[in-house]
Amino acid sequence: MTDTFKPIRVSDKVYWVGAVDWTIRDFHGYTTKRGSTYNAYLILADKVTLVDTVKAPFLHEMMARISNLIDPRDIDIIISNHSEMDHSGSLREVVAQVAPEQVIASVMGAKALKEHHLAGDGIVPVKDGQDLSLGNMRVRFMETRMLHWPDSMFTYLEDERILFSQDAFGMHLATGERFADEIDRDILRYEAATYYANILLPYSGLVLKLLDRVAASGMDVSVIAPDHGPIWRTGIDAVIGWYRAWAQQKPTDKAVVVYGTMWHSTELMARAIEEGLLAGGARVKVMSMEAFHRSDVAYEVLDAGALFAGSSTLNNNMLPAMADVLTYLKGLRPANLVGAAFGSYGWSGEAAGHVQDILAEMKVELVAEPVKSLYVPDDHVLRECFDLGMKAAQIVRQKSGRHG
Ligand code: FEO
Repeated sequence: MTDTFKPIRVSDKVYWVGAVDWTIRDFHGYTTKRGSTYNAYLILADKVTLVDTVKAPFLHEMMARISNLIDPRDIDIIISNHSEMDHSGSLREVVAQVAPEQVIASVMGAKALKEHHLAGDGIVPVKDGQDLSLGNMRVRFMETRMLHWPDSMFTYLEDERILFSQDAFGMHLATGERFADEIDRDILRYEAATYYANILLPYSGLVLKLLDRVAASGMDVSVIAPDHGPIWRTGIDAVIGWYRAWAQQKPTDKAVVVYGTMWHSTELMARAIEEGLLAGGARVKVMSMEAFHRSDVAYEVLDAGALFAGSSTLNNNMLPAMADVLTYLKGLRPANLVGAAFGSYGWSGEAAGHVQDILAEMKVELVAEPVKSLYVPDDHVLRECFDLGMKAAQIVRQKSGRHG
């Protein structure tokens, strides 16, 4: 075991000693189609320092990689940048095996680790902007509250210009490669965007402030080492630019039409809305909840300007798959959307109204009352759907500056 799992060199004094999870497919509701990694880093300073740990089942993989470099008992300091269990789940066992001088976390992190019963009472809390000497090297801490938990922080290793960014700038992507410049750029952008949409979107305002704080901090970052996915040793400006664009959520001319259908009537309505949107010059993504996962919808909504949601009525309610995706989207708090509800019914017809209620809670700017169809939509209803799409297309083109 010890010889089999190798550390990967990041810089002269820093090694990746994490774990690759090729099989995970669900991350608290977010489908991780390409698996993930749990990254941990070893700093070979005078004070040997481990930055983050791994999910509990991967403890042996991490310890084996560390053991290829040093005796794990030579680790002096453990820094916990984020208390979520994918990074701290093995911490109690690591502390038991290593017996470090210090376990360091943010003030909120120290509290969270204690409440998770992961590191006893002996955690040393550090404040935003505080420095720590590792003997011949130095790290600086930056609080990043709510990105993605209240405890989260960055650690910056000044001497090697490496920013350990925990969840930020990461992605769920299991690969044999450890560096972003070794991986197809379209895959990187897709997985980074999917991660942002499904994890960080609700905190976009804080992301923008954080990007400004990093720019003003004087940190001259040459490597971003996140806790998931590949390490950025090139393309740093690109990924920061992606984050700024996703966080800004500027209106676009793209519409997402998401629906659940029982006997294809609601689907026909979705297709008529699509035709209207296209005729009006908008871009469209049509997503049946039979064909797509809620995470796919979140990804598409990330750069959308409109959201239409439709459901057949089932037992006086919307279809379960629509309740699922709308509950999920509401929690992610996408901004700057226009839209409307629609749906077919047989006799009671509550679903479209319920869908509209959730869109309103999401602060979607409603451009029409719900369009409803008794059983199968006739030409009149389909025309109403088409006109709704046309109207919305004009609005999103105006908002996105693509009018004329
Ligand atoms: Fe990768 Fe918020 O944990």
